[in-house]
Amino acid sequence: MDTTTLQNLLLQAAQAVQRGVLQALHALGLADTVHGQPAWPLAWRIAVENLVIDGGLARQVALWVLMAGLALLWAAAAMAWRRRRLPLAAGALILLALAPWPPAHLLWAPAVPTSFHRSPTGFEATRIAQGLKLYQAHCAACHGHDGRGEGPLAASLPTWPPTLSAGLLWKRAEGELLWRVQHGLHDRQGRPTMPGFAGSLSTDDTWAVLDAMKVLAAGDGATRQAAWPWPVTAPQMAVDCADAPGPRPLAHWRGQRLRIVLAGAALPQPIEDPRFVTVVVGSSQTRAAGVECTAASADAATAYARLAGLPDAQQAAGLQFIVDRQGWVRAMSRPGRGGWSEDDLLCRAEAAPPAQSRAADAPPAAGLDALIARMEAEPVEVARLGVPHGR
Ligand code: HEC
Repeated sequence: MDTTTLQNLLLQAAQAVQRGVLQALHALGLADTVHGQPAWPLAWRIAVENLVIDGGLARQVALWVLMAGLALLWAAAAMAWRRRRLPLAAGALILLALAPWPPAHLLWAPAVPTSFHRSPTGFEATRIAQGLKLYQAHCAACHGHDGRGEGPLAASLPTWPPTLSAGLLWKRAEGELLWRVQHGLHDRQGRPTMPGFAGSLSTDDTWAVLDAMKVLAAGDGATRQAAWPWPVTAPQMAVDCADAPGPRPLAHWRGQRLRIVLAGAALPQPIEDPRFVTVVVGSSQTRAAGVECTAASADAATAYARLAGLPDAQQAAGLQFIVDRQGWVRAMSRPGRGGWSEDDLLCRAEAAPPAQSRAADAPPAAGLDALIARMEAEPVEVARLGVPHGR
């Protein structure tokens, strides 16, 4: 088993065990409800972020789990098998003593009551748009209008605000981000470095701001590095299609490729393409012109414009996005470009895929086909703490 697979397994096991413990404690009435979800009652949790960064630690923990499990089995056997009790019990103890105990400071991290909370927003465009407004009102003075940490107040603070573009929001558990924004941050001496917003922002507002910050960070990546260094889910919206009465959520098309086109008055109508379900965002008139699906939502237009790093929907008219079958936004094309190429894949693994990943007898694909082939050869593997896609 390679180290990355092992790390994935350990991460999932650790989270599943802790969530299981939390559910059980909550069911027994031993865990409170905080911000609408069961609250983690302990001051510590497993430091999954260390397991994910440190392959050596992950291997050590795996070996420890194996040996401790074996020791447990021997101990159980000792209980059951009276005549061999002594040697079996001694064996269990020796195993435990020989097991490579991982250093506690790497294995455990401080926890907060919301450590295992999950964002309830579903990455809805309406919530993102609301979050963007709240962000400008409450956070931009320090964090900067684009989230790079260079707001007008930044230089006067004892601690410089971090840039959000470096993946910080993806490296933390979302529930812990919620806690930090609501209750503020302190330096090692206990002096406040960021104020808490529990008094001015509701829990829902705070979740919305965190979504907005992710969109800003992605937009900044798109502008400066022509990449979304961390995978972003397609902002959700209600979509109206000619073939069904009433709107359906975008997630209805999970499993299919989507093309999202931002509408604009002066733009030629996008032509339907059998490789995608095409959704035109931001205009209700497009349906008549033969487009199958539309999302007449100014909020959705804003959310997608921001993903491209553009300040508003007007400037984004004609932008196109490709969403993969798992619901991740993967590629973007600006208007006026003569078609797609692999370079438009903004959410990708670092290295190009090896040539043999193509069928040996197939000719190399070009343009949009090449982009789709590469996108599907490199699925986003993670939506987990701390590890970018493409590993
Ligand atoms: C008065 C300036 C100021 C304001 C206003 C402010 N922040 Fe911060 N923020 C900071 C500073 C400084 C840090 C770094 C603090 C540290 O590392 O101790 C920070 C850190 C953060 C972090 C990183 C936390 C982590 O886990 O490392 C997040 C997320 C964040 N702020 C979100 C927000 C949000 C959301 C708002 C608005 C609701 C906001 N901030 C408003 C100054 C501010």
